[in-house]
Amino acid sequence: MTGATALARFHSLAHLSGEEIRALLDLARRLERQPEPRALAGRILGLLFFNPSLRTLASMQSAMARLGGSSIVLQPGQGTWKLETRAGVVMDGEASEHVREAIPVLAGYVDALGIRAFAGGGDLAADLSDAGFAGMAELFPGPTINLESAIDHPCQALGDWKTLDDLGVPESGRFVLAWANHPKALPLAVPAAVLGMAAARGMEVTVLSPEPYRLPAPVIARARAAAGGCGGSVRETSDRAEALAGARVIYAKSWASPLHYGDAAAETELRRGLAGWCVDDDWFAAADPACRFLHCLPVRRNVVVADSVLDSPRSAVVAQAHNRLWAQMAVLHQLLGGSR
Ligand code: CP
Repeated sequence: MTGATALARFHSLAHLSGEEIRALLDLARRLERQPEPRALAGRILGLLFFNPSLRTLASMQSAMARLGGSSIVLQPGQGTWKLETRAGVVMDGEASEHVREAIPVLAGYVDALGIRAFAGGGDLAADLSDAGFAGMAELFPGPTINLESAIDHPCQALGDWKTLDDLGVPESGRFVLAWANHPKALPLAVPAAVLGMAAARGMEVTVLSPEPYRLPAPVIARARAAAGGCGGSVRETSDRAEALAGARVIYAKSWASPLHYGDAAAETELRRGLAGWCVDDDWFAAADPACRFLHCLPVRRNVVVADSVLDSPRSAVVAQAHNRLWAQMAVLHQLLGGSR
């Protein structure tokens, strides 16, 4: 593979240069066109899921199988011992084993480890630090993959970049990351990852949200750093009409308000009157005629987005989910030496 060095880990697109990301995308396209069913023969991937999944779990297993390798899925508390992740606690509760033993044990069985560990959702500073995922990844001596941590979801972001390329969305196009209504306070991982991806792709990015849902300053700063040097830009607004004019992409996602992080009652109160933040056909009235609708899935119909949008040719959500497979195959190929 040209243009990139082999990866040692895959924790965030922010850790990679534009050249390294584009090389991964080239490899993803090559693997989509030309199967390599023996590339990772004999290699085993461990998949440690602390949280539910459809796409990430199924596409990771499919990716390993299509490259000739295999995978082991562990879901703590569901057939696997419930695992403690906190340091220094007296383990007299539900958890039977600590990750400090479990992950080094897994290192004897698998060649790489993917970990899904969502945000705690109670302490914004702790979640922004992503210390929980980083601490667990450090316990594994080989390559590790972030399958969605408190503040990042690089597999989603890489697949979405490929989807934008496949759809012919110009790198300089207008990309709107739009907050959408949802009954629950959702994590910041996808909005942070997708914002950074669009900025690193060089896009003109607008984050559209009600005022109390402005993304935390470190998330915006990281995206602006990614935009720097590649012609991208990042701005925030609550003015829907202004944000959507000329948009080439509307990427909807709900997230918790940083103002009341971890306070479910305050969050519920804040969302009263925000049911109109459901993406419907009107949102596309002043957008570019070729504007596409993106969402990472799972999505709640007629809460986050109207049926009429999701069922229209504008929607690229299934293509996004399919591109997770090719993007992750490229990552696994690099991490586990398929290129050598
Ligand atoms: N988008 C995404 O990560 O989907 P899952 O939560 O189903 O894995």
